[in-house]
Amino acid sequence: MRLGPILAAAALATLVSACGQSQPAAPVGGDQAGSAAAPAPPMSDADKQAALAALPAPYKTADLANGESKFALCQACHTLPPGGANMTGPNLQGVIGAKAGEGHADFKFSDALKASNIVWTPDKLDAWLTKPSDLVPGTKMTFAGLSDPKDRTDVIAYLMVSTGYKPK
Ligand code: HEC
Repeated sequence: MRLGPILAAAALATLVSACGQSQPAAPVGGDQAGSAAAPAPPMSDADKQAALAALPAPYKTADLANGESKFALCQACHTLPPGGANMTGPNLQGVIGAKAGEGHADFKFSDALKASNIVWTPDKLDAWLTKPSDLVPGTKMTFAGLSDPKDRTDVIAYLMVSTGYKPK
């Protein structure tokens, strides 16, 4: 009879200590560059505007708020922060300037994308986001595309600011 509450308390204590243990184990960044660095704190709006201003034209004058709101279309499949999860699509941290299909060893890219030899310059991203299957027939990114060039520019600027891109 009196064992019930004691067991419950013990179970709770186990739970609590288990939580305590799992906390310091930060999400394992796992892949490539940057994994040694401490996770960057979230950027303030002022940081984002400063990063935007440092981008090459036409991205420096892009509408970041529109880019962020259009990125909602991508968010079903993609995360942006360092160490973010792969979902239907890969985490996109560090993607700008990277070779297509090589970002994450733990994400299974299509053979078509891996064989494309694309390097993700802003221009290539613009073509990709216009219609992925036109740039890379056989890609498994099933996204119809953004038909408005301004939306693409704004999303690319948002990606640049949010994925650790450093202008040369
Ligand atoms: C329905 C899910 C889905 C949506 C929506 C989606 N993507 Fe993707 N994305 C993928 C998949 C899957 C891949 C991997 C493609 C392959 O391997 O062929 C990918 C690949 C990419 C890549 C190349 C990554 C690399 O490392 O080579 C970029 C960049 C990208 N997506 C950006 C975007 C952006 C920006 C949007 C929104 C405008 C978007 N995606 C919307 C699923 C999606």
